[in-house]
Amino acid sequence: METSRGLILRLVEIMNNEPDRIFNIAVSGGSTPALMFDLWANEYMETTPWNRMCIYWVDERCVPPDDSDSNYGMMRNLLLGMAPIPYENVFRIRGEVKPVKEAARYSELVKQQVPSKQGWPEFDIILLGAGDDGHTSSIFPGQEELLTSASVYVVSINPRNGQKRIAMTGYPILNARHVIFLITGKGKADVVEEICKSGDVGPAAYVAHHAQNVELFMDEGAALYIGDR
Ligand code: 6PG
Repeated sequence: METSRGLILRLVEIMNNEPDRIFNIAVSGGSTPALMFDLWANEYMETTPWNRMCIYWVDERCVPPDDSDSNYGMMRNLLLGMAPIPYENVFRIRGEVKPVKEAARYSELVKQQVPSKQGWPEFDIILLGAGDDGHTSSIFPGQEELLTSASVYVVSINPRNGQKRIAMTGYPILNARHVIFLITGKGKADVVEEICKSGDVGPAAYVAHHAQNVELFMDEGAALYIGDR
């Protein structure tokens, strides 16, 4: 809970530091951010500049929004239904549409909506998680070629269950002004150790090592092997 709280306070601080800016924020899904979204809705509704936030997704499972697997559906149920973010400022990935077609549509939408730097969309904030297998943004180990794709979003496959996903690739992630990981639980201690080592094995470690401005928000369990480094 306190890791999520620290991240919420950091996000509000980043936005308050630039009071005239509209922030383009791309969020990940999975179970880790769910706790944070719930806390955000329950305790920081009044202190967050919701009307200066445009919400995009880093990745989405290729399922309809009402499916329990939907990253959009999870955030809608826990936060978007309560937070006064203008409807036109929420840009979901349509998991119910054919994946290749939707990856192309969403890539074009992001290129039109998000200002670019050095030829790639420059998000203000990208919130990432990390799987216990070292994946991030639904780019899995063994699919590292997707990190250097020429597309902003691609179709990936979760090797554990064959589920198709739409995922933001490495260059737009690395291009963001703030790349922030939220990683909790002892199950992630190995991947956090990889991230903090010099070698960048796995997509999460690759992103963490190559991002210009990366912050790790993790609990004691995730930081088990790296201590207070
Ligand atoms: C997803 C996420 C993914 C997530 C990691 C961690 O769609 O699953 O975007 O990249 O960040 O898998 O997921 P957990 O928080 O569920 O461990």
